[in-house]
Amino acid sequence: MLIEDGQLIDKTAEYVRQTLQGAEAGHDWWHIQRVWNNAKLIGRQEAVDMLVVELAALLHDIADSKFYGGDEEIGPEMAGLFLRSIDTDAAIVEHVQQIIRNMSFKASFEKLSFTSPELQVVQDADRLDAIGAIGIARAFTYGGFKNREMHNPDIAPNLNMSKEEYKNTSAPTINHFHEKLLLLKDRMNTSTGKMIAQQRHAFMEQYLEQFYAEWEGLK
Ligand code: ADP
Ligand code: NI
Repeated sequence: MLIEDGQLIDKTAEYVRQTLQGAEAGHDWWHIQRVWNNAKLIGRQEAVDMLVVELAALLHDIADSKFYGGDEEIGPEMAGLFLRSIDTDAAIVEHVQQIIRNMSFKASFEKLSFTSPELQVVQDADRLDAIGAIGIARAFTYGGFKNREMHNPDIAPNLNMSKEEYKNTSAPTINHFHEKLLLLKDRMNTSTGKMIAQQRHAFMEQYLEQFYAEWEGLK
């Protein structure tokens, strides 16, 4: 017999919490918890299977390819292994794996081979955590982790990066706002996601204005 949805979710949350211990702050358990909460909030307004939404939100960063030599199958594979180990229904495992495989910003450089309302909810939840006050903190945390400059007026943002360039960039962190973060509001899928994104986007714009002014010593 299949175990109950609530139990599957509890076991998955526990597994993710354990696995992400010591992870870089932008992709740690707190990121997962925020995305999980956002996904529940957004998902309530949509016609979706909440079990799939919650499991995918919990497992979406279980193994980031960035930290596994670019292997993009490692995440879906680890998620699948775990979900099968707790007897999750096969169709649900497959759906969660497809979501993890197809929801990253990197995947958006390619024509998506898969989408679903559940993917759209989790993707919005993940994108919301990349913008606004938290998004700013995560970007600089990641930039610091990679030993990047905060800003360098001589290095202009590259708005036409290929997927490879995006993966390998060592540009200053401020460039990432122009290359990715400020583009996210127009890529939101759900109406709840769009609404929250607008407010967070406005906050980032205000932040950047202040940042550049301070850089020049104007404020
Ligand atoms: P995805 O979840 O789509 O794989 P990433 O792993 O690229 O997204 O991004 C996760 C977090 O790391 C986000 O908050 C993002 O802003 C940050 N990040 C990724 N690349 C950079 C970068 N080049 N500079 C600063 N922050 C980055
Ligand atoms: Ni994420």
